Amino acid sequence: MHRRTFLMAGLATLAAGSQASAQMKMDDMNAMPGMDHSAHGMPGKPPASLMLKQGEALRDLPRLANESAEAGLFRARLTPAPATARFVDGVETPVLAYNGMTPGPLIEAFEGDRIEIDFTNDIPGEDSTIHWHGMPVPAEQDGNPMDPVVAGASRRYAFDLPAGSAASYWFHPHPHGKTAEQVYRGLAGIFLVKPKADPVPSAYGDTVLVFTDLRLAADGSIPENSMMDLMNGRVGDHVLVNGQKTPALDVPLGAKRRFRLFNATNARFLKLSFGAATMTVIGTDGGLLEAPVAVGDVLLAPAERLELVVSFDRPGEVKLETLAYERGWMGPGKPDDSGLTLLTVNVASEAGEPMPPLPEKLRTIAALGNATVNRRFVFTEKMGMGANGMEMGFFINDVAFDMKRVDVTARVGEVELWEVINKADMDHPFHVHGTQFQVIEHERDGKVSPPAYRAWKDTVNVARGETVRLLLKQDLPGQRMYHCHILEHEQLGMMGIVDVTV
Ligand code: C2O
Ligand code: CU
Ligand code: CU
Repeated sequence: MHRRTFLMAGLATLAAGSQASAQMKMDDMNAMPGMDHSAHGMPGKPPASLMLKQGEALRDLPRLANESAEAGLFRARLTPAPATARFVDGVETPVLAYNGMTPGPLIEAFEGDRIEIDFTNDIPGEDSTIHWHGMPVPAEQDGNPMDPVVAGASRRYAFDLPAGSAASYWFHPHPHGKTAEQVYRGLAGIFLVKPKADPVPSAYGDTVLVFTDLRLAADGSIPENSMMDLMNGRVGDHVLVNGQKTPALDVPLGAKRRFRLFNATNARFLKLSFGAATMTVIGTDGGLLEAPVAVGDVLLAPAERLELVVSFDRPGEVKLETLAYERGWMGPGKPDDSGLTLLTVNVASEAGEPMPPLPEKLRTIAALGNATVNRRFVFTEKMGMGANGMEMGFFINDVAFDMKRVDVTARVGEVELWEVINKADMDHPFHVHGTQFQVIEHERDGKVSPPAYRAWKDTVNVARGETVRLLLKQDLPGQRMYHCHILEHEQLGMMGIVDVTV
């Protein structure tokens, strides 16, 4: 039986069986063929009564204040806890927030700095951690599921930012089985590591755009994950930018702006265009490219980041919009996620100050060299009987995640070739902790193609039916996770552990 047909048969069994139906939430019933689709629960169909505020000026994310007076030391506190947010006038939405904010406060530090974050888990009854996504931090400081901070407990995360680590990172919880929920309830923040000297002209500014994905029930609360969410990953009703719906930004004519884009959604694939304004990619997950690359549109898979320079050379309105992208969707309720306006830029008719040109060379990225070890990671999806009844399983090399099992043993400093093979019906964005890798090639339908540019990445989309080959080297010992960054898939097993030894 074709996998998709098998899945639908599984869903039908789920709806019919009495024991299984206890697992079904109203959302799923609405999403079943022949059910009332007008009720809430379908991605992309928010209740009409809840209108989010729109068109406000794009806000800067509040900076996390450095409590240390010592040069080269950044010390601060991060406390995740329940809070309320007002996405809709007069409606209070219970969220989880870092220091009362969602997205969390932005951390800005410099290469060479020492970071000390005092963390207190104030989420009642749940473990949490902070994982420093993409950052070269020691394994025991990286907030792995194996190192939970129980409710009410505290710990300090401490690490140094090495030379060459300047990039756009982010942080989020990573507790076993609770990562997806803690993130969609509001826990994610940005961590900018800046270089001592930046080749990108400061006249371009430096604007963070962090995308999150909000779903609100009719009462203004954030509903829990449904069966459909667990299969496809949770896609919400509203893609927010810095916590705002379709904010606005004013720029003078002729402006060039530097934007850092962060996909902090659980499962939303963002294919983006700035319309008539020209886009140039200058950086990826792990920092600047060697040279700028002009593009027409970009795909930002969950957890990926991009740095762009956008030129606003015509007066009038320019929209940052989503384009159609086929990521593979199982079952009903496929969201229509193209044509969303995420940000409106109003380009004045008066010209601003003349902009310095972007340098032709941004930095050097040395090739990683030849691999001494080759590994294969094969993604599959299956419907099966799990602890909670019929459920979807997501596997790497045929096994689901087990915290007590080491899947791969590697050695510090050795270059490895990882072949990541997607035999499933959906795209899966693949992420590795603790290091940045270089994608060497993509293979699909027998066609091999190199990436458009050499870049440091920690997350790469592996499309359905695609194989991605990448080179990677871990410089620090310890246990590291690798997983699909659709957080519901990570939760349902698509994760493994590589133990890096000296
Ligand atoms: Cu954002 Cu395990 O990662
Ligand atoms: Cu990570
Ligand atoms: Cu996945």
